[in-house]
Amino acid sequence: MGKPAILITRKVFPDVVEHLRQHFEVDHNDADEVLSPAQLVERLQGKVGALTTGSDRIDGAVAAACPGLRIVANIAVGYNNFDVPALSSAGVLATNTPDVLTETTADFGFALVMATARRMTESEIFLREGRWNRWALDMFAGAEVHGSTLGILGMGRIGQAIARRGAHGFGMKVIYHNRSRLDAATESECKASYVDKATLLREADHLILVLPYSAESHHAIGAAEIAQMKPTATLVNIARGGIVDDAALAQALKQGRIAAAGLDVFEGEPKVHPDLLTVPNVVLTPHIASATIGTRRAMAMLAADNVIAYLTTGQPRTPINADILGKGARA
Ligand code: GLV
Repeated sequence: MGKPAILITRKVFPDVVEHLRQHFEVDHNDADEVLSPAQLVERLQGKVGALTTGSDRIDGAVAAACPGLRIVANIAVGYNNFDVPALSSAGVLATNTPDVLTETTADFGFALVMATARRMTESEIFLREGRWNRWALDMFAGAEVHGSTLGILGMGRIGQAIARRGAHGFGMKVIYHNRSRLDAATESECKASYVDKATLLREADHLILVLPYSAESHHAIGAAEIAQMKPTATLVNIARGGIVDDAALAQALKQGRIAAAGLDVFEGEPKVHPDLLTVPNVVLTPHIASATIGTRRAMAMLAADNVIAYLTTGQPRTPINADILGKGARA
């Protein structure tokens, strides 16, 4: 009997493909086009596993149309592209890539806080456009980062890594809001104080969003929340599009309701709200917070190892719906 077959829905590093080939027949999408839902279902026929990305919606309909599929391994820590309850009911294991990207993503979050506060994109565009003809005392004067108040909404692994950078590296006062409060030892190590959401919005000089996307966090930051922020504040989103109401944010930036924003993720990306492309006081990046070569390789390797481990030993490395193991998982 031949090896079982798996699909890698997008282009990944060749050594990851080779690693998987030791165990499976590997169908990989080296053209790197995002597969449509119909193409995805077609390519998944006869496959026992798949390495997926945030662009691939995997829900109950996909699980039903692909009865041989036993595991979907997201190459991402976020997994709002999965309908986890539906996958659990169908007996399909889902995995993600926590931990390997925490510090890299926190570095980028901090970079975006700094770039936004210090107006790096806006001033670079000014220079590139040849408009710099003299130095001026108030030219692109931005907001202080060191010693200011850093607000963090969502205090998981990445939020905590950002808190450490702010508190220990930049002498910032760190406040956070999260569904659950951290234990005292972690709070003290991160030098972070728990506050309610209204206090977070009111007191942060720089507010960074690091919470998972769900129905509950949809538009967690909209016009009403922005209205509670300081007019001098900055807002950074490295979490998921949809957590911020981008239209409301664009409007607030236009009106100078807050000073600036830094966005790595967008509602409906890769489309970007047209008004965000025309307001000057926003730093925009194309969903690259975890994008170092080392980290992206580690994420793809962890996804591969999840597929290999689950399909050879039944023990995935980083399961999302571990509750199905041993009861109800597809065999
Ligand atoms: C990227 O957005 C991830 O969830 O890993």
